[in-house]
Amino acid sequence: MIEMNVHYAELKESYLFAGIAKKTEAYLERHPGSRLLRLGIGDVSLPLAPAVIEALHEAVDDQSRKESFQGYLPECGAPFLREAIARHYAESGVEVAPKEVFISSGASDELGDILDLFSPRSAALVVEPAYPAYVDANVMAGRRVERLEAGKDDGFAPWPDPEAKADLIYLCSPSNPTGSVYSRKKLQAWVDYANERGAVILFDAAYEAFIEDPGTPHSIFEIDGARTCAIEICSLSKTAGFTGTRLGYTIIPKELRREGLSLDGMWTRNRTTKTNGVSYIIQKGAAAVFTPEGRRQIEGNIKVYKGNARVITGALSELGIWYCGGENAPYVWMECPNGMLSWEFFDYLLEEIQVVGTPGEGFGVCGEGFFRLSSFGDPDDTIEAMERLKGLLRGACA
Ligand code: MLT
Repeated sequence: MIEMNVHYAELKESYLFAGIAKKTEAYLERHPGSRLLRLGIGDVSLPLAPAVIEALHEAVDDQSRKESFQGYLPECGAPFLREAIARHYAESGVEVAPKEVFISSGASDELGDILDLFSPRSAALVVEPAYPAYVDANVMAGRRVERLEAGKDDGFAPWPDPEAKADLIYLCSPSNPTGSVYSRKKLQAWVDYANERGAVILFDAAYEAFIEDPGTPHSIFEIDGARTCAIEICSLSKTAGFTGTRLGYTIIPKELRREGLSLDGMWTRNRTTKTNGVSYIIQKGAAAVFTPEGRRQIEGNIKVYKGNARVITGALSELGIWYCGGENAPYVWMECPNGMLSWEFFDYLLEEIQVVGTPGEGFGVCGEGFFRLSSFGDPDDTIEAMERLKGLLRGACA
């Protein structure tokens, strides 16, 4: 009889966002025709930038002509895109070789796949509240997960814990879900900690384009020593609206070695075996993101989402509700009013004002009592959602 991966039994019954979608659909079945306002999953609402659309069309045309047709591309990414991304890093003073850039179908896919490089006997350290896929992917692999709880005291961006026994460290800045960012000093402390212990940092930079503070690092490779201890995972999903188009990239420096093995070499071996890469058409569209015109256009979209974040934080300030995030990130992390539990608050908003958010408990036990609102929605919907919230909670917050 086949032996199954019993670790699946250690997972919650459904993934956080799948559970929310199920609850929301059930509500709609009970209340057909209700107008739900979705500030839950971080899915973008604006279309792709015109420069990207133009590049996608051109790439489709390339595939229609014998002289420009492309079959298989290099598994780790087309040179034109790897070079464009390396140039993008160079513009902010971070030296990355094109061959250190691996093109992927998205950060969430990559965050799970990259675990192939590490033994299941290694331990993962997750700073919670955290994107739930970090924990779930490690549980599926049978890996021990240690949690480092972040909170209001450390601005949801803690210093390394010298007691933790971690081999693989997840850091996300700007953070999903709290919107907090790590200062250069804190990131330096994490890099030093990882180098001292021979650990590896998986740095999730999916939201770096939302950083406004001039001194806040966008990349772990702005930090001294990071090239010997870190992998950076990034995505165009939120930066450029690729949630449905799918493209991400991972940076593995040549200097990153453990137990005599080069992680960059191992990942090349993995990718050339397990994937034929991302399609030519999508990679062409992605390259347009890194042109001056593409950059300008996506910055325009990010400004719209930042405007939504200000609508959300403005409403919470009016209500006197504690929150963080929204300034350097697309997520606002708020305290549930009147001591409500986070799923209780989820149900309350859904039932009373048909607004969908994400319960903090879904990001780890220490997220209990908090709630995440996403600024990726339609601007009019965001304004309406906040009007409904103010109508519901005005005078009701202790
Ligand atoms: C989120 O809402 O946390 C993210 O959009 C989910 C994801 O990126 O997979």
